Amino acid sequence: MAEYIKVNPMYQDRIEEVFQTNINPEIVLEFEIHENDFVNSGKGSAELKVTIKRLGVDPAIMRKVAVAAYEAEINITAHSRGGVMTSNIFPDYVHIVFQDRGPGIEDLSKAMTPGFSTATDLVREMGFGAGLGLPNIERNSDIMKLDSAKNESTKLDVIIFFH
Ligand SMILES: Nc1ncnc2c1ncn2[C@@H]1O[C@H](COP(=O)(O)OP(=O)(O)OP(=O)(O)O)[C@@H](O)[C@H]1O
Ligand SMILES: [Mg+2]
Repeated sequence: MAEYIKVNPMYQDRIEEVFQTNINPEIVLEFEIHENDFVNSGKGSAELKVTIKRLGVDPAIMRKVAVAAYEAEINITAHSRGGVMTSNIFPDYVHIVFQDRGPGIEDLSKAMTPGFSTATDLVREMGFGAGLGLPNIERNSDIMKLDSAKNESTKLDVIIFFH
């Protein structure tokens, strides 16, 4: 298993805390994401956006969450066998976990390179495949952790602070 992690230096001291397993979010939203289902893909991020809007999160932060979550949701639809998106909402941040069912990413640094894409013709017909989704997720998140390997499942953690 390979790992790619990026951390906004402002939140370096919160890494251990956010990756603890014994912490209870205030709200948990769970969405199934299906392979090649471009009709429903994006609904999880839309629901998350509405939820944090209701909580009074700043619109600029809300947009970052919506963009990062949408790109990750589409990636599961376009490149994997499907998976689950779990949004864990805490008082001052959201931690979204995207867990798919493979086939995994062979080279993480290649996948993170703007313009790199293995999108199929079908995915390109749907308007995706520019190779900009992962760089966009990185830009919009405070902590991003990608764990994957060839023939494994892919797990992506996206953490965005509200302040
Ligand atoms: N969940 C995943 N499972 C397997 N491969 C993935 C997954 N997410 C991303 N990838 C791989 O990483 C590459 C780059 O992803 P990225 O989101 O940056 O671009 P894209 O999805 O190809 O195009 P765009 O996001 O611009 O529509 C993908 O083409 C694919 O090879
Ligand atoms: Mg993408």
